[in-house]
Amino acid sequence: MSGTKTTPIDHRQAPFFDGLIAYRDAEIVPYSTPGHKLGAGAPQELVDALGRQALALDIPNGGGVDDTHRTWRMQRQAEVLAADAWGADDASFLVNGSSTGNIAFLLGTCRPGDKVLIARNLHTSLLSGLILSGARPVYLYPEVHDGLNLTLDVSVDTVRRALDAHPDARAVALISPSYTGVAADLRSIAALCRSRGVDLFVDEAWGPHFPFHDRLPPGAVQAGASVAVTSIHKLLAGLTQSSLMTFGAWGAGRDAIAPAVSLIETTSPSALIAASIDTARRQMALDGHRLLEQTIELALGARARLQEVPGLHVVDESVIDSRQGAGFDPTRIMIDVQKTGLTGFQAEAILRSECRIGVEMSDLTGVIVHITIGDSPDSIDHLVSGFERLVSSQSGVASGTAVDNRLRSSGSVIFSTSPVLTPREAALGETSAIPLSSAVGEVAAEIITPYPPGIPVVAPGDLISAQTVEYLEAASEVGMYISGPADSSLKTVRIVSGTTNSG
Ligand SMILES: Cc1ncc(COP(=O)(O)O)c(C=O)c1O
Repeated sequence: MSGTKTTPIDHRQAPFFDGLIAYRDAEIVPYSTPGHKLGAGAPQELVDALGRQALALDIPNGGGVDDTHRTWRMQRQAEVLAADAWGADDASFLVNGSSTGNIAFLLGTCRPGDKVLIARNLHTSLLSGLILSGARPVYLYPEVHDGLNLTLDVSVDTVRRALDAHPDARAVALISPSYTGVAADLRSIAALCRSRGVDLFVDEAWGPHFPFHDRLPPGAVQAGASVAVTSIHKLLAGLTQSSLMTFGAWGAGRDAIAPAVSLIETTSPSALIAASIDTARRQMALDGHRLLEQTIELALGARARLQEVPGLHVVDESVIDSRQGAGFDPTRIMIDVQKTGLTGFQAEAILRSECRIGVEMSDLTGVIVHITIGDSPDSIDHLVSGFERLVSSQSGVASGTAVDNRLRSSGSVIFSTSPVLTPREAALGETSAIPLSSAVGEVAAEIITPYPPGIPVVAPGDLISAQTVEYLEAASEVGMYISGPADSSLKTVRIVSGTTNSG
């Protein structure tokens, strides 16, 4: 679609949302899904909780909102508007989250055995994409902040060295911003990838707001990436699972990725979720700058006040001091609670049960909270006073740290693994279960992702190191939630049969 934007687009319209409302107002009596029929057959408790209005809008897209022929006409109009708002050439709505976009990019661009240079702090859905596509990962390791043991961005030099060593790579895939809000130097990396003719895909799940304010890092496609995916539901006003794929002016376009999306996405996409992408786009295009200005000011105020609370340390922009071109999102606030004598897990539990505060995530050292366009001075006061209570309730606790030293190295554990098979070969081949304690030197056959932070510590195809085993033993001892393995207690792990030390 590049070259077609001659007149400025009018962002006051919301064609998909309007289509949904028009469908409701037409009072067509449905003899089609969903079975609750606009709420008429829904259990009373669901009607009471959601209201008839919401249930009356719960219809699948296609065969309903647009017309009876699945032309997706209104959705396409809404996607063109979204592309414009996000500074992209084209866009696709996703109703199964950014996870779908991550998988679809790899499925749509890589044939089995194709090399992809991919950040090792990847989300588990990118690993699913590696398994499904059969692509061969060459892992790019992000920098780690020494003092805080915090995973930062993948540097331009790391990408350049990998491209030099693997000129046959099909794509570079990065996560930016990281879970902790650190954005890579995407302008330089995109220019580099484009000059080599290698797609740059960015998992921008945590950056849907970036294009709408210049005090935030640039959006991925604005910075020059060829394809990106972002979660409208994570930090903007979309309903849960609403996400957007954006396409730049070069590289794999929508046509290459769309067939892969339809391979994995539901055939009954929720019109309600799609409509919420349309209205979130309108909101941001018309009023995003003002809303984010307020949000950033609230976040900076919260940061300053939390930093004053004895025992708390707020991770700030200084983490990228020496990182030229990197960016930082001040609206994600990572609060280190170690000096209170609590782990982040314990702090999360107390904040929830005693202070009515729900955090985004906790780990051993602290918690992360988001400030979004949904916050207000009152919600910031609630947050700060909750943390003050948390700290004062801990006054009797001996100072020091409750953190198990074996778990301090989550950032560096992923550096101790090395892939010897593709994730597909390892995950879909002959496998067996063995005790975790005897897995050193074996090839992993499953994804093992301790939460938080949700970064796979083991990827299928990795040679399992002693450091990884030690980390996983400690993680299961302290009761971290472990996603992925067949045996979630981690007494056993699945390995590829007939390799390395299993003979
Ligand atoms: C970096 C990253 N990418 C992708 C996802 C998946 O996004 P979604 O929940 O929209 O599927 C997440 C989810 O937390 C994430 O942290």
